[in-house]
Amino acid sequence: NIMILFGPPGAGKGTHGPKIEDLLGIPALSTGDMLRAAVSAGTEVGKKAKAVMASGGLVSDEIVVGIIRDRIKEEDCKHGFILDGFPRTLAQTKALDKMLAEEGACVTKVIELEVPDSVLEERITGRWIHKKSGRSYHVKYAPPKSMKTDASGKPIPESMTDDATGEALMQRPDDTAKALTKRLAGYHNETVPILKHYEPSGIVKAVNANQGMNGVWDEILAALKRGS
Ligand code: AP5
Ligand code: ZN
Repeated sequence: NIMILFGPPGAGKGTHGPKIEDLLGIPALSTGDMLRAAVSAGTEVGKKAKAVMASGGLVSDEIVVGIIRDRIKEEDCKHGFILDGFPRTLAQTKALDKMLAEEGACVTKVIELEVPDSVLEERITGRWIHKKSGRSYHVKYAPPKSMKTDASGKPIPESMTDDATGEALMQRPDDTAKALTKRLAGYHNETVPILKHYEPSGIVKAVNANQGMNGVWDEILAALKRGS
């Protein structure tokens, strides 16, 4: 089971990846989460990635391929894994195929979360994350239990805490309308074309991600059962 969760910024990859992880018992690997952890830790990779990520650009293929190559060698990936946010370019796609082929494996399913660009700004600008776990919340669609709002209905930042740990939530530096425009351009120009690479093998399953989260999850469950 080697699965790719595919979709634009705000499609719901990080929302549903951990649920598939729980369901199938294979880890969800988000290159975005791994890069944010590297930025926080101030590693060499983090220093190189920080500004590129904040502006909404793509980190170099060399860096992300290296991160994934190391990660999928770990014990918990032996029975498969779910990729969130990788591959994102044709070069990454080819590098992935090559490293999997060396182990006699290949990508078995691509779940494509389809959402029109027009709904993504509200999802992105309303998102708050718990950095350590990667859990994401939304001021309107998935508020933390602790959320309090001021008279104008805006969330009070101090009240935004993680349901499980009570730790503070934060907003991502790239979750601005400006950086989103750049992230979406990257998605359409560099990432969407890689679907063509997987379509001939019939493993791409499209899901309507422009509906409530429960509806999306039901369609993902159906897509997991469909085909291979
Ligand atoms: P990454 O962290 O992967 O960001 P992204 O691809 O832009 O995706 P997001 O995390 O924004 O969206 P998501 O689909 O996970 O949405 P979520 O479920 O949280 O990458 C960040 C950066 O790292 C990149 O820009 C790049 O610089 C770098 N990078 C990472 N991988 C790379 C690679 N392979 N190559 C090069 N560079 C790389 O949902 C969003 C919000 O909407 C949440 O608030 C959620 O609660 C809400 N929501 C979710 N579903 C619904 C729904 N159905 N209805 C209403 N609200 C919903
Ligand atoms: Zn994400």
